[in-house]
Amino acid sequence: MTQPTRGAGTIRPVRASTYFFGALGGLLFGYDLGVVAGALLFITPQLGLSHLQTGMVTSSLLVGAMIGALGCGRITDRVGRRTVVLGAAVLFGLGAIGAALAPNLFWILAFRLIMGLAVGTASVTVPVYLSEISPASRRGSLSGLNQLMISSGILVAYLVNLALAPAQAWRWMFGLAAIPAVLMLIGGYFQPESPRWLIKKGREAEARAVLARSRTPEQLDAEIAEIVRINESEQQQMRLGAMIRDPRLRRVLLIGSGLALLQQVVGVNTVIYYAPTILKSIGFTSGAAILANAGLGGLTVVVTIIMLTMVDRVGRRRPLILGAIGMCAAMVLLAALFYSGGLTHGTAGWLAITGLALFKICFSLSWGGLVWIMLGELFPLRARGTAMGVATFFNWAGNFAVGLLFPVLLGVGTGLVFVIFAVLCLVSSGFALAFVPETKGKSLEQIERDLGHTANPATAVDLVG
Ligand code: BGC
Repeated sequence: MTQPTRGAGTIRPVRASTYFFGALGGLLFGYDLGVVAGALLFITPQLGLSHLQTGMVTSSLLVGAMIGALGCGRITDRVGRRTVVLGAAVLFGLGAIGAALAPNLFWILAFRLIMGLAVGTASVTVPVYLSEISPASRRGSLSGLNQLMISSGILVAYLVNLALAPAQAWRWMFGLAAIPAVLMLIGGYFQPESPRWLIKKGREAEARAVLARSRTPEQLDAEIAEIVRINESEQQQMRLGAMIRDPRLRRVLLIGSGLALLQQVVGVNTVIYYAPTILKSIGFTSGAAILANAGLGGLTVVVTIIMLTMVDRVGRRRPLILGAIGMCAAMVLLAALFYSGGLTHGTAGWLAITGLALFKICFSLSWGGLVWIMLGELFPLRARGTAMGVATFFNWAGNFAVGLLFPVLLGVGTGLVFVIFAVLCLVSSGFALAFVPETKGKSLEQIERDLGHTANPATAVDLVG
């Protein structure tokens, strides 16, 4: 499959399938995350689970993802991006089939943990891979396909849950994920390896062949020369300890980890998991709440597509700053809903839907896709996998912590929870303003050079645009 690109011969036809299969791990990431809410409705009574055990089914995936993210970073640097993607596909398939056939809680937990390992691995490797194969001028939209796949995976999970709920078929809900896992394995087998990783391993001829698929001969020579130059000046593969001791790399690692953590503490997954609960608490029927939630999932996919068409023009920094302000406004709206008693059912319903939709629109235009895009761009080649693994670990840890604390905080007061999220959205906006560089349109090597020359945000003039 080929997709002609615009621009009077500046970029040769790009193989769309390369990007599609490269991003497929994102679909499984979203699906496995989204499907559990529906499945739990039936696992809980059928297996007689306690509240704690129900929580364990959800969180086992997140624990696996934390371990997978942290563990796969160095492996990705050592054995290659493609090999790790193939490994993740096998784990996805194993986890899906195992959880579907599990005879008891122990086995469900074990296979959800395996699925988590795959989700964590994909969340590290997919952004790096997409970033490393994309031409600089379109890297945002191509590597943003990851987020499109994640939100589509969540939507597919909602729809599968809706379709299978009447049959209470939780085993099928888990098991169907094996289909994209097999596709990912087959597609991944035919995928090229990342050209940047190939050069790091001294396999320049192969890297040339990969890049030649989507670059003109002049672009190809220039890009190869730039990667080789950067690579020669930094032959040494970097370990985490060495990164932490180097002030410039430490700073980049902190920016990446901060972005990854803040993406979670703004409350996105509580909005995803608890939207039906929020809607029911203000008087929606279960059916209407689930339908409205699926509608919100559809909206997320559409807005993510819009983000992909804009990201290489508007850049990363401004949407991160402004998007978080919009997300804050949405949280204030939701907080107001719970603080103001005596609203009519109609008014409360509209306020809730508007707040939830506004949050999803702003998140999807900014922190949703942009964090993953930027994590694939920020780190230097010699430490990209390792650093990405660390930053991504913070994303999963944040996801886990918010999931754990949210029900506790709800006990204190729903309005208060949304106020806390509103404040954290403002903190995120300030973080982007103070620390996040602009990476739009630059090659990964240029970003690396610029960041290497930038000791503190005040001197980052070159990067802030
Ligand atoms: C986040 C996930 C979230 C998803 C929602 C991703 O960028 O990392 O935690 O569930 O967006 O679309």
